[in-house]
Amino acid sequence: MNALQNRVALVTGSSRGIGAAIAELFAAEGARVVVHGRDVDALESVRAKIAATGAEVLAVPADLTSFEQIEALRGRVEAQFGPVDVLIANAGGNPVRPGPVEEISEDGWRAAVDANLTSTFLTVKSFLPGMKERGHGSIVTLSSAAARRPTPHTPAAYAAAKAGVELLTKELALQAGPHGVRVNCIAPETILTERNQRQIPEEIQRTMVEAHPVRRLGTPEDVARAALFLAADSAAWISGVVLDVAGGSVLA
Ligand SMILES: NC(=O)c1ccc[n+]([C@@H]2O[C@H](COP(=O)([O-])OP(=O)(O)OC[C@H]3O[C@@H](n4cnc5c(N)ncnc54)[C@H](OP(=O)(O)O)[C@@H]3O)[C@@H](O)[C@H]2O)c1
Repeated sequence: MNALQNRVALVTGSSRGIGAAIAELFAAEGARVVVHGRDVDALESVRAKIAATGAEVLAVPADLTSFEQIEALRGRVEAQFGPVDVLIANAGGNPVRPGPVEEISEDGWRAAVDANLTSTFLTVKSFLPGMKERGHGSIVTLSSAAARRPTPHTPAAYAAAKAGVELLTKELALQAGPHGVRVNCIAPETILTERNQRQIPEEIQRTMVEAHPVRRLGTPEDVARAALFLAADSAAWISGVVLDVAGGSVLA
C-alpha cells in the first residue's frame, strides 16, 4: 500500500531542488501532487517528469509573498484536485550573505523574512482553515540547520526567519491538533541541490563533509524521505517536532 494513496499533496517551491524531490517521491507513493513555483519553465519540466510516471500532477505558479496569489492557487487546486490533505510549505531560500548583523541591509532583512517566514505564514493562513473544517490534514514546514545553532557562516537574517518558522510550527501544532491537523518541521543542513552543486566549489564541499558525523552532505532525496515520514500516517502521533535532517551535524 502506498503511503499517500489518494491524498492531494501540495509541495510549494517544487519547481526545483528539495521540493521537486519531495513531489516526485509523493507521486510515487500514490499522491495526486500539485507542483508549484514561480519559474513556469522549471515548473513544467518537473510536472512533465512526474506525469511521465503515470501519476496525476498539476502545476500552478504563484508568488507566495502575495496572499492574493496563494488564494488563487488554492482555488485552482480545489477546482481541479479537491481540497489539500498534505501541505509541504517548502518554498524559501537565502537572499543574504553571512556577515555582521549590523551590516545586513534593511532590504536584505525584509527579503529573508518575506521569502521564508511570511510566505510560510501566508500559505498556512490560506490552507489551514479548510483542513480544520474537514478535521484532517498534515503540514510540514521547512527550517534550516542555520536556525538550529549559530556558526561563523550563518546568514543571520535567514537563520532568524527560519527560527520563526520553527516557532510558528509549534504554535500551529498546538492550535490545529485538536482539529485533526498535525504540523511538523524539517531542518536540513546543506543539501546538494542543483543550485548548491553549482555554487559550492568541490573543495569546500569536501571540507564541509568533515563537519558531519555521517560523512557526506545531504541529498534532496534525504529530505524527501523525511517529509514523507512526517506527512503520512507513519507519523500519526507526531506533531510539533523539528526534525534535523543533517547527517548528525546538529546535536542538541
Ligand atoms: N538546499 C539546502 O541546502 C537547504 C538547507 C536548509 C534549508 N533549506 C530550505 O529548504 C527549502 C528548499 O530549498 P532548496 O535548496 O530546494 O531551494 P531552491 O533550489 O532554491 O528552490 C526554491 C524553491 O522555492 C521557490 N520559491 C522561493 N521563493 C518563492 C516565492 N516567494 N514564491 C513562490 N515560490 C518561491 C522557488 O521557485 P522558483 O525558483 O520557481 O521561483 C523554488 O521552487 C527552502 O525553504 C530552503 O530555505 C535548504
